[in-house]
Amino acid sequence: MIRKLIQALLIGNIWLGGMMPEKEMPSKDPAVDYLVLVNRTHKLPDGWEEQIELVEAENIYGETFLLEKETFEHFVELRQAVLEKGLDIELESTYRTVEEQQTIWDEWTELLGKDYVEAYVAVPGYSEHHTGLAIDVCLDIDGQRFNMNDQLLTMTEQFEIMNEELAENGFILRFPKEKEEITGYHYEPWHIRYVGKEAAIEMDKQDLTLEEYLDEVEERD
Ligand code: DAL
Ligand code: ZN
Repeated sequence: MIRKLIQALLIGNIWLGGMMPEKEMPSKDPAVDYLVLVNRTHKLPDGWEEQIELVEAENIYGETFLLEKETFEHFVELRQAVLEKGLDIELESTYRTVEEQQTIWDEWTELLGKDYVEAYVAVPGYSEHHTGLAIDVCLDIDGQRFNMNDQLLTMTEQFEIMNEELAENGFILRFPKEKEEITGYHYEPWHIRYVGKEAAIEMDKQDLTLEEYLDEVEERD
């Protein structure tokens, strides 16, 4: 019922969240670890799928995607904030199963070669996309869809608009420039990760990656 309602509200790319009766708002799941670390050395935790609720969302191209419920709710708000600044960010890739990641790995290896794939694609089982908390966005500019890595890597001005809105909406840019040694991946302006507002604001203020932030939290405790 709630999933259908969310889908209905997204049709035509209009989110009417403010009009949703409060008692029908999906409740937050306190069991979800929004700071979960999945990277080259940290595999998706066992049983992760049982801890999250995936919901379906639609982009303006009529494609449907699965993503974690709270991540979805906050993406709707992020998208709206960015839209108000004149930029349309759309869902391009969200939750992926290990099998789907394997397909991407295989196809991209064939198309672009092993070196490229190792820089940009996580080994199946080690992708943040398995968590449902990561989103690759594409840009829609005057009805034209920009979703190719090479194009997106040059669209600095546009991504600056998005980046300004990330923290307030609970997201971080997961693979920023000049942090490749820490994150293990090349700069990806399109890959954002939901961590929750408090952590996102802290990371933004201190210019920390998730790896650095978690180290700092551990030292503090
Ligand atoms: N592009 C990121 C690293 C992934 O494949 O999860
Ligand atoms: Zn990604």
